[in-house]
Amino acid sequence: MSVICVIGTGYVGLVTGTCLADMGNTVTCVDIVEEKIERLKKGILPIYEPGLEEMVERNVEAGRLHFTTSYPEGLANSEFIFISVNTPTGNNQGGADMRFVESAARSIAQNLDHYAVVINKSTVPVGSGDLVTRIIRANLNNPEVTFSVVSNPEFLREGVAIEDFQHPDRVVLGSTETEAAKKVSHLYTPLNAPIVITDLYTAEMIKYASNAFLATKISFINEISQICERLGADVREVAAGMGYDKRIGRAFLDAGLGYGGSCFPKDVRALAHMADEAGLHPQMLHAVMDINHDQRRLAVTKLTNILGSLRGTTIGVLGLAFKPDTDDMRESPATDVIRWVVSQGAQVRVYDPVATETGRTALIHEGVPMDNVTFCKNAYEVAKNADALVLVTHWNEFISLDMQRIHSLMHRPVFIDGRNIYDPGEMDRLGFIYRGMGRGTTPAPSVLSANDSTTTPNAKDLMQEALIIGETK
Ligand code: UGA
Repeated sequence: MSVICVIGTGYVGLVTGTCLADMGNTVTCVDIVEEKIERLKKGILPIYEPGLEEMVERNVEAGRLHFTTSYPEGLANSEFIFISVNTPTGNNQGGADMRFVESAARSIAQNLDHYAVVINKSTVPVGSGDLVTRIIRANLNNPEVTFSVVSNPEFLREGVAIEDFQHPDRVVLGSTETEAAKKVSHLYTPLNAPIVITDLYTAEMIKYASNAFLATKISFINEISQICERLGADVREVAAGMGYDKRIGRAFLDAGLGYGGSCFPKDVRALAHMADEAGLHPQMLHAVMDINHDQRRLAVTKLTNILGSLRGTTIGVLGLAFKPDTDDMRESPATDVIRWVVSQGAQVRVYDPVATETGRTALIHEGVPMDNVTFCKNAYEVAKNADALVLVTHWNEFISLDMQRIHSLMHRPVFIDGRNIYDPGEMDRLGFIYRGMGRGTTPAPSVLSANDSTTTPNAKDLMQEALIIGETK
């Protein structure tokens, strides 16, 4: 078993440190924010991640997991030092802000008194391993001390981070010193996963390319979803049909309001920036970002297509977090959707099972006038007198809502399903004016008669909507 120091107690650092402790290692997590460490010592976590709180408690009790603000304490006897600080988007062009990585590297240098392997877990631009090496070397308090640098990108999804740590599809390790990478690989051998050992730059690139590819899959299916909608196909069935092809795979083909979170938006931007800086023109990455931005707007377009002006309407929003099982609001589509409908004069009623406080903070930060936003205790309260509901986050509890009750509570039964979790036929039967994302319900042009060809399916849809609205008012 090893002695490990983890710097940074955000999602990545806390999950990594706790899971390594759970495997029997002795782990000290270092963070410069005193309040965070004080709370962690009391068992209060700075993030919501299913299963993590119990795992922290168990490992603290077993004496394997410690928290401190002191670098000397954290580094004492550590054979492995993980840098897991955040790398937010740093400038207007989308490059990563390396300030926290740089200051962690300096603090390591000033306090290291023995050989250790420094492992970069933060998502850092290609070439950052060299930067960390240079910073440590230049700032070493004791110039006799030696160290190695290894890149070990993380592939943890929020909400299932523990599962992802314990059952990874692969572990990637990159270094100019293969021996150092092999040392780190021993930490992971109990996980029985394929271990890719490569050079530093390649490991750093694998992380960006993986996230960018997954984001591309999402933007691809979102573009297809818009085509489906126009032509009368159902994108969910298209994704299922495509997904059986092993070369394609079903994962990350869920059309909806697009990707958010702390990773995809930031990493696609950073990769495009790196490519731009290198004199390239990363067309696909730019398209991925554009489609993702436009996708969010679709929710509002669908609302105005049905309701006309939003002035004076009440719009209910189900879900705030960028995805279920997290309270993370970073780059959540909900923020944009709420900002846009409020700017058009609507009152908003919102509910999220977990992201209430983070949601409130994010909306205030985005400048949304809070007089226009009411936080509710559940989905039914949101539905009360609403002119429309928009489902933004597909929390499990929304799947099993009593839709008849929701319908009876609403002023107008307009439902925009931003994550395609409901059955259009069933919603129709219940009397909702239901719009999913890319779920055309009208016949494709090929089966329309010649006389129908001047009326696009979309226009027919809208006429239908106007009719139903007229009846329910
Ligand atoms: C993502 C990656 O999945 C992780 O492998 C990676 O380690 C992590 O970023 C990171 O770089 O730290 P995460 O941001 O937690 O993880 O969330 P995902 O589950 O990947 O979802 C990202 C976004 O894409 C969410 O907004 C989700 O709603 C959206 N999404 C996902 C779709 O719109 N459609 C899909 O089919 C899948």
